[in-house]
Amino acid sequence: MRPTKATILTMATASALVLAACGGGDTAADGDGGGADGRSLRLALNQTEEHPSFIALENFGSTLDEATDGRWSIDVYPNETLGAQAEALQLVSDGSVEMAIVSGPQLENLNEDFVVFNLPKVFDDVEHQMSVIHDPEITGDLYASLEQSNSVTVLGGFTQGARSVYTTFGPVTTPDDLAGKKMRVQESDLHIAMAEALGASATPMAYGELYTGLQSGVVDAAENNEVSFHTQRHYEVAPHWSQTNHLVGLDYLIINSDVLAEMSEEDRAAFDEAWTAAHEEHTELWMTATEEAIAAAEAGGATFNEVDEAAFDAVLAPLAEEFITNESQQALFDAARAAAE
Ligand code: GCU
Repeated sequence: MRPTKATILTMATASALVLAACGGGDTAADGDGGGADGRSLRLALNQTEEHPSFIALENFGSTLDEATDGRWSIDVYPNETLGAQAEALQLVSDGSVEMAIVSGPQLENLNEDFVVFNLPKVFDDVEHQMSVIHDPEITGDLYASLEQSNSVTVLGGFTQGARSVYTTFGPVTTPDDLAGKKMRVQESDLHIAMAEALGASATPMAYGELYTGLQSGVVDAAENNEVSFHTQRHYEVAPHWSQTNHLVGLDYLIINSDVLAEMSEEDRAAFDEAWTAAHEEHTELWMTATEEAIAAAEAGGATFNEVDEAAFDAVLAPLAEEFITNESQQALFDAARAAAE
């Protein structure tokens, strides 16, 4: 189920209180930069401090601070401190928080064209994905499409790597093994349809609730990358990892459009340059982080097994036809696929 407007508002109000308690973050009181005349941008993240996204975003902030002589800096709030992603998106839209990392499915809820990059098999691998999503010819209109309606500008993204299925109950080798199981998905129609295509019953849930969801049996299965499997400690409660590689996921960096418009031309250029360095660093960190996550999860008792990938592809392939329903979606899909060839 998607969050309703009412739940989003309630959550946003709760977070506004948290923000007030955090003191608004406009000064350098915490030593993170953004001097007396500087502006510190609060960035909502749902990952831990050991996750590559946190590391790359922290470095983004330091580079920006230095390049703008303290006029702009970034304060990264990890672990859903400012709220889960649906809520963080709403907070960026209304300007209570300046920036956030949100997963592709969240933006699909505001503009259905974003669904294209959330589909299984649209990206072959991380390199292909990064080349598409940072090509302004392909994504320029898409990334500006939320400015009028939601005051949100999309700046590009970080890979989530290949996502696979993991369960509390045992290894999965074909979709039949998921029949009737409750599978956590991100809050999106496509991802609900994806779990259903696998034969599972879909349970949309915020990321931060998933550990308890798996532990308590509210859900029996989930899907994510190895880095999240490890950093969220999901392997402790759902130790059977099955290498489905069913899609290469995508996180977007978003910023409130009015805040972005406040930057001078010079500062905006420094911001763009620092962001490019940050997503490039993230891609480099990703491979190592994945290997380390596998080793650490295995040491913690997780098992990893191969699956019949063709059996998964066969049930997931029809989703593209079902969810690509207009010309702009088709154009995005064609451009993404053309970049792979
Ligand atoms: C990944 C991704 C997050 C997302 C999460 C999820 O960890 O990087 O942005 O929220 O998956 O499944 O919810």
